[in-house]
Amino acid sequence: ADTKVYRASTTAPVNIAVVKYWGKRDAKLNLPTNSSLSVTLAQSDLRTLTTASCSASYTEGDSLLLNGEPSDVSGARTQACFRELRARRAALEAADPSLPKLSSLPLRIVSENNFPTAAGLASSAAGFAALVRAIANLYELPASPSELSLIARQGSGSACRSLFGGYVAWRMGENPDGSDSIADQVAEASHWPEMRALVLVASAAKKGVSSTSGMQQTVATSGLFAERISRVVPQHMEGMERAIRDRDFAAFAEITMRDSNSFHATCADTYPPIFYMNDVSRAAVRAVEQINAAAGRTVAAYTFDAGPNAVIYYLEQDTELVVGTFYHVLGGEVPGWKQAIISGLKPSLSL
Ligand code: PMV
Repeated sequence: ADTKVYRASTTAPVNIAVVKYWGKRDAKLNLPTNSSLSVTLAQSDLRTLTTASCSASYTEGDSLLLNGEPSDVSGARTQACFRELRARRAALEAADPSLPKLSSLPLRIVSENNFPTAAGLASSAAGFAALVRAIANLYELPASPSELSLIARQGSGSACRSLFGGYVAWRMGENPDGSDSIADQVAEASHWPEMRALVLVASAAKKGVSSTSGMQQTVATSGLFAERISRVVPQHMEGMERAIRDRDFAAFAEITMRDSNSFHATCADTYPPIFYMNDVSRAAVRAVEQINAAAGRTVAAYTFDAGPNAVIYYLEQDTELVVGTFYHVLGGEVPGWKQAIISGLKPSLSL
């Protein structure tokens, strides 16, 4: 029997949303209740490196090694990605019988994150984007980034945005089968080369409420949520696309902060309430407000995902003002900040 090992590797970066995905209209297909928009942190060291291989010699069946630990592949999300990719490979093999029959071989996925997993640092986004692209490369699929985004979405919603660099929108779509719920690039990173992100790690601990159950609880019990998806998010999407097109940082920053606030407000509005931000997070909000007030213009914007860590967006020319102040504040008297430093303050990351 052929025991040849076929192999391909890729890396995928994290992305941090400035208009948040929060809520599923179809939990099985990961179809969102609203569109979202993110910035891909491509030049940062927040990345997943994944190698996919397949071989008839892998008698244990499909397997996944995540940061050196054997991890479950039987979950519906991972299975959906495997199934979609195998179906596309099988179609190629059917059309060209000279191709090796990789679609029927067991898969082995080896994946490494260089940042805390499941700490609200979008690890699932980079993880599923890398997994899908590594297998697509292994299978030599002629798939575009948007087609891969459709597959990665089924692994983790936010992963669909990590298949593009720069500024990326995930259009919610309307088809019940999810065929139009895909990502597209709003602008290349080079469109706004001064954009920077500072990641403040308040805690590297695993998050308390998973995004899946947090979303489910929000959709089911929050009264504010209907307002967010019908009015707030559409306005933010439109304003954000305009701010990016015009490289208008003040508008970009205001929408980013308002959208983060709106998302966390719907979480606080669930019954029982969900709190992802903590005292350290709130100190970061106040620090950004002080930095902007002292500058007399908007130079920094905070945003928080489903965890306490802050991502601060700013422009290169304001590095001193923003990062300098944060280092000063973090070293200073604000309670909780020492903990932020100890658990790993990431230095300034270019996109
Ligand atoms: O992709 P998930 O299921 O981990 O959800 C991500 C949710 C947020 O990070 C809070 C928002 C977003 O758009 O990335």
